Amino acid sequence: MVSYGEKVLLVDRKGGKHLITLEEGGKFHTKHGEILHDEVVAVGEGGWVSTHLGVKYAVLKPCFWDLLQRCRRGPQAVHPKDIGIMLVELGVEPGMSIIDVGSGSGILISALANYVGEKGRVVSYEMRKEFAEIAKKNVEALGLVKIVEIREADITKGVQDRGFDVATVDMANPWDVIPVMREALKPGGRIGLYTPSITQVIRSVKTLKENMFVDIRTMECLTRNIRVEEVLVRPESWMLGHTAYMTFARKTS
Ligand SMILES: C[S@@+](CC[C@H](N)C(=O)[O-])C[C@H]1O[C@@H](n2cnc3c(N)ncnc32)[C@H](O)[C@@H]1O
Repeated sequence: MVSYGEKVLLVDRKGGKHLITLEEGGKFHTKHGEILHDEVVAVGEGGWVSTHLGVKYAVLKPCFWDLLQRCRRGPQAVHPKDIGIMLVELGVEPGMSIIDVGSGSGILISALANYVGEKGRVVSYEMRKEFAEIAKKNVEALGLVKIVEIREADITKGVQDRGFDVATVDMANPWDVIPVMREALKPGGRIGLYTPSITQVIRSVKTLKENMFVDIRTMECLTRNIRVEEVLVRPESWMLGHTAYMTFARKTS
């Protein structure tokens, strides 16, 4: 069942996708013709609707990632493939508390909030007002305001709170905040750094060691899509070559 006011995905057989919000009497215009919202509600989840030109679309409910990928972007956000690795390597679980810098477009913090859930907490620092506004809007649109607190401040000035389970750092000079994150983390707490350049990794790892972090590992994640057609089954010619390196470590006393 799908209801008016809800978001649904309309997916064609070639993989084209549209996210729409259902309105009573509403119409959605695709390049293949018009779809009536009332018909979408009538067929429900998993059903098919046709445009007035006869092209069919499946009606599906969006998952969190569908909504996250359609959020407004400001500064470069963490890529979904990397978020998957970060969640696992950082051991993110429901109820955990996370300290983050910088909020940027709010993509990473929204993903973290979705996993820690209502019993968890994500506190994120963002020193640029315009980016804090984008991040706040995205967090609100995803219904995560009760979990995420965005503080408009420079994190190098310090964090008062203590005892966080996890720290995430996505900014140009992570070595400047490693001592601050060390103070904010609980003993054994995990830190994850997201840095596009290997020179950032070298300096960060040195600082992590100086600050008594152990179990330091750096990795990157490459994903390759596979084209599957009747007689043609092979990797796609183009792939995303690089996003960032991810460095993980744990705090000791
Ligand atoms: C690459 S963006 C973060 C993107 C974010 N992780 C996402 O997934 O949407 C880096 C952000 O860090 C912020 N930043 C850099 N240094 C900071 C500091 N010392 N304190 C607070 N925010 C900082 C920048 O203003 C920028 O918005």
